[in-house]
Amino acid sequence: THAPVNVTVTGAAGQIGYALLFRIASGQLLGTDTPVKLRLLEIPQAVKAAEGTALELQDGAFPLLAGVDIFDDAKQAFEGTNVALLVGARPRTKGMERGDLLEANGGIFKPQGEAINAGAADDIKVLVVGNPANTNALIAQAHAPDVPAERFTAMTRLDHNRALAQLAGKLGVSVADIKKLTIWGNHSATQYPDIFHAEVNGKNAAEAVNDQNWLENEFIPRVAKRGAEIIEARGASSAASAASAAIDHVHDWVNGTPAGDWTSMAIPSDGSYGVPEGLIASFPVTCSGGSYEIVQGLEINDFSRAKIDASVQELSDEREAVRKLGLV
Ligand code: NAI
Repeated sequence: THAPVNVTVTGAAGQIGYALLFRIASGQLLGTDTPVKLRLLEIPQAVKAAEGTALELQDGAFPLLAGVDIFDDAKQAFEGTNVALLVGARPRTKGMERGDLLEANGGIFKPQGEAINAGAADDIKVLVVGNPANTNALIAQAHAPDVPAERFTAMTRLDHNRALAQLAGKLGVSVADIKKLTIWGNHSATQYPDIFHAEVNGKNAAEAVNDQNWLENEFIPRVAKRGAEIIEARGASSAASAASAAIDHVHDWVNGTPAGDWTSMAIPSDGSYGVPEGLIASFPVTCSGGSYEIVQGLEINDFSRAKIDASVQELSDEREAVRKLGLV
């Protein structure tokens, strides 16, 4: 067994936090031979609720859980941390303009980036879940100049998993039969779930579907708007599925993607596929030995090109907006 790994979770008392912490404690984040120490960050008003969750974590009697500490100060919460899950964010409320939303989140992700820069462990890996996730990741990264830029990632794994489930349903196969699906761009309604390179039991998925109308008018909007569908049905936003995707993202980053497959992660662009350098955009990636690489050389058809460009344009606009606010 390894020494305990420090995992910081922000927004720990929120609904994703509640679903996430127990799965981390059970060993599903890093692997069942890795003990974890949880460091929970909350705003002062929610510390008591986080303490309640910590009592339940204790009652879970998880053999791998080496401790739980609760903070309302970012500097302390990220001290020595190896994995940071940035879940807490400022949601858009009624009448809020996009600029206000970005500014409010700047007030959260700037100090958290600074705290990661100041005190996190050398091998720190950051996953931003809190929305707007890609741009929040960009803000945190901008304030952590001593941390390698590629350690800041944002979550499109929930979109990836949603797309797997929809495609599996359409073809009457198991999600396990599908490989090489990709989410491109922003974690937003402009995201592009791409099945043109996906394989279903070894055959091309787009050919197996052979239904452009379904692709354009059912699959893509269903995946992109799944969050709204969940809110409508559940009366609350996706929580357990979001937590599950966060587990998958970090698990694969740390432990690697399976041979012959890839996953989707929003990561700082190196200019691949015409995505401007530095934007935190979703790409097809493989992971190995604790790092990731963009899958290169995929042929992008005109349909995909237009969809990718539209989502990437939205990311450029968000970057421009936070630049104007002096946040990056
Ligand atoms: P929630 O409102 O239940 O919980 C958020 C928690 O964050 C609250 O407990 C709040 O006190 C805390 N918080 C706020 N500011 C904080 C700060 N500065 N430091 C530490 N904690 C802070 O929200 P929920 O449902 O857990 O969702 C969290 C975020 O995840 C939202 O921004 C949501 O939009 C996003 N999300 C992202 C998904 C993705 O696929 N990338 C999927 C689903 C949700």
